Amino acid sequence: MLLDDRLEAVAAFVEAGAAVADIGTDHGYLAMELKRRDSSRRVIAADKNGGPCGAARKTLRENGMEQAVEVRQGDGLAALAAGEVDTVCIAGMGGKLITDILAAQPEIFAGLKCVVLQPQNAFGVLRGWLYEHGWHIEDEALAKVDGRVYQIIRSVPGKAAMPPGQELLIGPVLLKKRPELFREHVENNLEALAKVMAGMRKGSSPDRKRLQELEKDMEKLEAMLG
Ligand SMILES: C[S@@+](CC[C@H](N)C(=O)[O-])C[C@H]1O[C@@H](n2cnc3c(N)ncnc32)[C@H](O)[C@@H]1O
Repeated sequence: MLLDDRLEAVAAFVEAGAAVADIGTDHGYLAMELKRRDSSRRVIAADKNGGPCGAARKTLRENGMEQAVEVRQGDGLAALAAGEVDTVCIAGMGGKLITDILAAQPEIFAGLKCVVLQPQNAFGVLRGWLYEHGWHIEDEALAKVDGRVYQIIRSVPGKAAMPPGQELLIGPVLLKKRPELFREHVENNLEALAKVMAGMRKGSSPDRKRLQELEKDMEKLEAMLG
């Protein structure tokens, strides 16, 4: 099965040989493809809800992979036992939900060597949380599907200095690497910020101090365009 560019970018950040769990697997495409690419690795496909677990089992069954990938129903990392996997992928969920999932099972999280994350929003919150908890960002990628640009983050344990706020939003590694979609990614964020500011200005008593802060944020984002 061909993954779309978003899930392909997630798969590309999983190291060869890593034992991996796909948390929030839904259709199970990523889990199945990870096992196909390295049949010797352990792959667990987990989801909180019964419907998605059924969908993942169906995908695996239809591709003759039912015995190769274990599907488990469970809430976040609680679906795993300590030491079962060294890498966890969480894709297609809000950034805050991803931090809640990582924080909810500290003993499982502490045993991981790598997390590959594809948040849908709250990018700064998620990146900041990783740095606050002794992890840092090792690599990042952008992928575009149906006109939307997605951020993919590979994070590993090890303390590093917290990047400044706008870098947490845009991605410290993306800022260095400037991949093909980088300009579009920054422009999307500028557009979102402009909308927030326009909404605030329309209000009866706009918070001038906050607006000034946001104007500075915009200047920093514009500077990233180079
Ligand atoms: C939008 S789908 C993303 C599916 C797939 N990961 C992808 O990126 O295409 C989100 C999935 O996460 C599952 N989910 C939500 N909260 C979860 C949690 N706390 N633990 C495990 N799965 C969860 C949902 O049931 C749903 O199947």
